[in-house]
Amino acid sequence: MLTVLLKGSTGRMGTAITALAAGNGLNIITCNRDDSLERVPESDVIIDFSHRACIVPLLKKALMHKKPLIIGTTGHTEEEKESIESAAKEIPVVYSSNFAVGTNVLFHLIETAAAILKDFHPELIEIHHANKKDAPSGTALSLAKILQNNYQKPLSFGRSGFLQNPDDEIGVHALRGGDIVGTHTVHFLGQGESLEFTHRATDRKIFAVGAIKAAHWIFGKKPGLYSMKDVLRIFGENGF
Ligand SMILES: NC(=O)c1ccc[n+]([C@@H]2O[C@H](COP(=O)([O-])OP(=O)(O)OC[C@H]3O[C@@H](n4cnc5c(N)ncnc54)[C@H](OP(=O)(O)O)[C@@H]3O)[C@@H](O)[C@H]2O)c1
Repeated sequence: MLTVLLKGSTGRMGTAITALAAGNGLNIITCNRDDSLERVPESDVIIDFSHRACIVPLLKKALMHKKPLIIGTTGHTEEEKESIESAAKEIPVVYSSNFAVGTNVLFHLIETAAAILKDFHPELIEIHHANKKDAPSGTALSLAKILQNNYQKPLSFGRSGFLQNPDDEIGVHALRGGDIVGTHTVHFLGQGESLEFTHRATDRKIFAVGAIKAAHWIFGKKPGLYSMKDVLRIFGENGF
């Protein structure tokens, strides 16, 4: 049994992880908005699915007690991302915008397609429920980074107005509403043909299962900044 301090345990993701914990070898210490982090020393691993504003005190405590950390929260500022990178020099950290197997396969497919479809133009659309705090989603930003690295074009968030050369920038569009758990579509738009790659999450369980896998995987690992690519090893020992 692995003891996990779960930051954000009252949330949608916290509830999904708690529901699966006992059956998957996790003993959960809940840690809600008003709880201090005083129970960190009792944990083997920390899982964070809360709010970006929680990360700095959480990193401080994890570093103080040398606890491995799984970060599922999205929307961090550049400064907060630097703090995460710096902490990962001393403790093992899995930081991933998406813990689902399917989305990580999508990352791989988009990398492969972008490397081949040099004459196509990429655009990105994501859809989430109306209670999501950040836009675009962390997953959309991960996909956008892959496209940007391959096409060397700036990102344009939610275009409007008179457009000069929309092909010179990669459009990223966020739709919000209903109970959508998370849909991401990358379009590769060409002359006479186009391709679309979509991942649809219909149950938060997929992220919870990934986070639980990551918690078991990280226990006993060396310090470093890891991703779900490292955890899943879907395509064998060398990862994707
Ligand atoms: N990486 C992935 O695979 C993945 C998948 C899904 C979601 N996410 C991300 O995970 C995070 C949580 O998502 P969710 O859908 O579970 O959100 P949620 O239902 O809104 O839950 C957020 C949790 O964080 C707590 N919280 C919110 N603001 C806080 C603050 N300022 N200080 C301390 N605690 C705070 C909430 O406490 P209260 O109950 O007291 O408000 C709640 O426990 C988001 O960043 C989301 O984008 C990541």
